[in-house]
Amino acid sequence: MLVTGKEILQDAYKNHYAVGAFNIMNLEGLRSVIDAAEQERSPILIQTTEGGLGYGGIEYLGEMVKIAAQNATVPVALHLDHGGSFEMVMQCLRRGWTSVMIDGSHLPLKENIDLTRRVVDAAHAMGVSVEAELGRLSGIEDNLSVSEKDAIYTNPDEAEEFVKATGVDYLAIAIGTAHGKYKGVPKLDFDRLDVIKKRLDMPIVLHGASGIPEDSIKKAISLGINKINIDTDIRIAYIDATRKFVTENPDIFDPRKVFKGARIAMTEVVAGKMRMFGCAGRA
Ligand code: G3H
Ligand code: 13P
Ligand code: ZN
Repeated sequence: MLVTGKEILQDAYKNHYAVGAFNIMNLEGLRSVIDAAEQERSPILIQTTEGGLGYGGIEYLGEMVKIAAQNATVPVALHLDHGGSFEMVMQCLRRGWTSVMIDGSHLPLKENIDLTRRVVDAAHAMGVSVEAELGRLSGIEDNLSVSEKDAIYTNPDEAEEFVKATGVDYLAIAIGTAHGKYKGVPKLDFDRLDVIKKRLDMPIVLHGASGIPEDSIKKAISLGINKINIDTDIRIAYIDATRKFVTENPDIFDPRKVFKGARIAMTEVVAGKMRMFGCAGRA
């Protein structure tokens, strides 16, 4: 069934677990993440970035996810990940997305508030929930000093002001994760997360969670993370399995045979994350 992101995340918030939000850009990805959700009896947020929508086509991906959600026996939300403009969000609202992110994290605080407030007004009028971001994710190779961290990680005072001023439903924060493949082991600022969660009465979102060790993920959930974004680990599973198959079977040119193993590999990665996040068995 197709539901809003808020509906899924309110249960996670009340019951202290996190729900995985998995990026897709084509049919292989979509079928893989839905298979994992069914297999694990897990609610799921299926998310698309602007780049993913450019690749897969906004109409195609939107309709495909909605059909998958209608046929699914678990709750599914269709989420816009890192929406970069009011116009982009409007396009998704018009096509039936049930959750949207507006990412104004690169803007000065006041401009981020203004943009997010406009999106919240429009999305809430349509019954759609909204994620926003405050603070900037560091680069994968950054080794930040304390003052650099203070400059880019989410400031708890600003977070409180931001949430009050915007009415956003869930907030993505920066505590030391990065998008992409880590070179070393990332160190997360758990104290900052703890302070933010105690001051904000709402679900908190962790981006850049691929490659974060299980103990750190579990600690982040225990401190109040309720939505966890995974893209890179799915891409790696997809491409590694595909590369292995074509290397071992250079004469096979039927895409159904080539991508069969890749779909299974993506489903295994997503199912493993669902068990790790505690959303398995919640649907
Ligand atoms: O933040 C989300 C992604 O991992 C980056 O995705 O390459 O589709 O923009 P993209
Ligand atoms: P990863 O690159 O760690 O998978 O992060 C995904 C993400 O945050 C999507 O918004
Ligand atoms: Zn992200």
